[in-house]
Amino acid sequence: MKKIVPVLAAFILSTASQAQKKLTVIANKPVAEIAPTMWGIFFEDINFGADGGLYAEMVKNRSFEFPMPMSGWQEIRRNKAQGQTVVENRGRDGDANRRYATLTVDTQDGGYGLSNEGFRGMGFHKGEEYLFSVNAKAVNGGKIKLRVEAVNAAGKPIGEGVIENISGSDWQTYQVSLMTTDSAMKGRLNVWLEGTGTVQADMLSLFPKATWKNRKGGLRKDLVQWLADMKPGFIRFPGGCIVEGRDLSTRYQWKATVGPAELRPTVINRWNTEMRNRLAPDYFQSFGLGFYEYFLLSEDVGAEPLPILNCGMACQFNSAEVVAMDELDTYLQDALDLIEFATGSTDTKWGKLRADMGHPAPFNMKYLGVGNENWGPQYIERLKVFTKAIKEKYPSIQLVGSTGTDPDFKPFNQEGFEYLDNELRGMKIDIIDEHFYRSPEWFATNAARYDTYDRKGPKIFAGEYAAHTKTGVSGARMNNWQSALAEAAFMTGLERNADVVTMASYAPLFAHTDAWQWAPDMIWFDNLRSYGTPNYYVQKLFSLNKGTHVLSVLNQGAILNGKDSLYASAVLDKNKKSIIIKVVNAAATPSTISLDLQGAKTLKNEVIMEVLATNDKQAVNSLNAPTVVYPVKQTINSKEKSISVQPLSFNVITIPIQ
Ligand code: AHR
Repeated sequence: MKKIVPVLAAFILSTASQAQKKLTVIANKPVAEIAPTMWGIFFEDINFGADGGLYAEMVKNRSFEFPMPMSGWQEIRRNKAQGQTVVENRGRDGDANRRYATLTVDTQDGGYGLSNEGFRGMGFHKGEEYLFSVNAKAVNGGKIKLRVEAVNAAGKPIGEGVIENISGSDWQTYQVSLMTTDSAMKGRLNVWLEGTGTVQADMLSLFPKATWKNRKGGLRKDLVQWLADMKPGFIRFPGGCIVEGRDLSTRYQWKATVGPAELRPTVINRWNTEMRNRLAPDYFQSFGLGFYEYFLLSEDVGAEPLPILNCGMACQFNSAEVVAMDELDTYLQDALDLIEFATGSTDTKWGKLRADMGHPAPFNMKYLGVGNENWGPQYIERLKVFTKAIKEKYPSIQLVGSTGTDPDFKPFNQEGFEYLDNELRGMKIDIIDEHFYRSPEWFATNAARYDTYDRKGPKIFAGEYAAHTKTGVSGARMNNWQSALAEAAFMTGLERNADVVTMASYAPLFAHTDAWQWAPDMIWFDNLRSYGTPNYYVQKLFSLNKGTHVLSVLNQGAILNGKDSLYASAVLDKNKKSIIIKVVNAAATPSTISLDLQGAKTLKNEVIMEVLATNDKQAVNSLNAPTVVYPVKQTINSKEKSISVQPLSFNVITIPIQ
């Protein structure tokens, strides 16, 4: 590392009447390197995060595979038109796509059809193009014309496309695009049939043309943009409890999520029934967003992919079903094959599939999680089998092990966190995953949690955390400033301990305002709009100001960790040649701080300060008011030596150095 010339630079952050607190930043003695993975993203299909959210498909139950085959669909007819729909089942065991609709009509005016309600409605933007497609064939020489309509909540057409003739007797994909003349939040898709005869239809699908990177059948672009803007160090996928399943039959199986979309099975989403007061009977996984798409997304946003796989255990809060030890091979093989899928050459079976799907170059996979929130000796027993086999074949893959749901959770009187932590350390696992869903007070008083961790043991992944407030406990209101500020205080502790904590992610990530099961969540959306919560902006500010090395920042020789409700951490960014100091003021009064940078020569008379603040702890962002809590950037002339640190504020101070 380049030697930094020791020069004393002093900035006074003050208002005259306030007592001063002096912060000394030891700029010429970096304490540790900061892993590029430090701040990342946890993704799970919860709260309609994938189907109905990130995955831009607008048709719900597009191939009639929900247990109630017509879920989301209804027959529509005008002028007593003749027509009927029967859902048929190919009856082939193990077939992912067994069902299709057989529609028989006798209607020259196109008065019979099917209508789909979408995911709590369909969102149409005015003047945009939408792509409809269907796999279809004619039966017994039928000739049918399809008129495809986007309609608003009142049923008024706002876009139309026509497929002139479905007459081929083989399954074939037909497509048409619609341009919308108006917007609709709770629209629907109508598919009208005109003619006489029978057609069979499957995979009726509607996507906006403008998806993320304009990929056909891709992801909702506004939602990916939030993630890209964070420049995340990693993306953990696909969860969360969804990895475990309520029982083993509904666990997440990555192999079922790759290959052609129509051959991916439909599986119940565990959040369908999990929350009794937020039941979501129409919540299923289409796996249109599957492992290939997760890897691609990680690549797109420059994040390390971090897949988590089932270790042979279903959720221990639900069925607690475990696979017999002598039957673990399938699960283990899934892990080995996944590594081949992501990293293997195109000559290998799974590497070839990756290439066939459009990505001959390997995905840059370095990390793999085995099990989510699993516990007990059953977990350790299984994890050991995975660890041995994976390390033998792929020694460079970094493995992540679970310590259950929370450090204080005693799982049904079994040994909890301490047992797991000891076992994982005994096994010399690479990375230990810890989860915290706690009160803001807990976060504020636990910022020193990692100060005493073993510096030579496994690295820590704070894999899921969020401050849960006790007030305003419904949905998006829980993402208030109080929770975000407490997380910021805690994160100064993570940053200060970046030699041990190498990954951290807020959870959950996404929530649909009309279809959530769990709150708080980082990013909320409806069918047309989305917004970042105060918690999002805290995450983003840490991530964009990650730095390359941790610096010591001391007040009277001690870490500033809650004294007078102040928290501080500092980093050096070698590449951007700057020192970045993060200060949280959790008090309702302003604070006065003087800053000494020891061993750094400042470059310009300019300090950039980004401030996230409001006097109202209950303040939230919303779809209609998305920037109530929003970072404000100021440029300060350092000659003035005066910067104001507001009450209830999170401040990121960037000082360019030579
Ligand atoms: O983030 C929501 C859930 O919280 C995750 O699925 C699970 O891992 C944790 O209990």
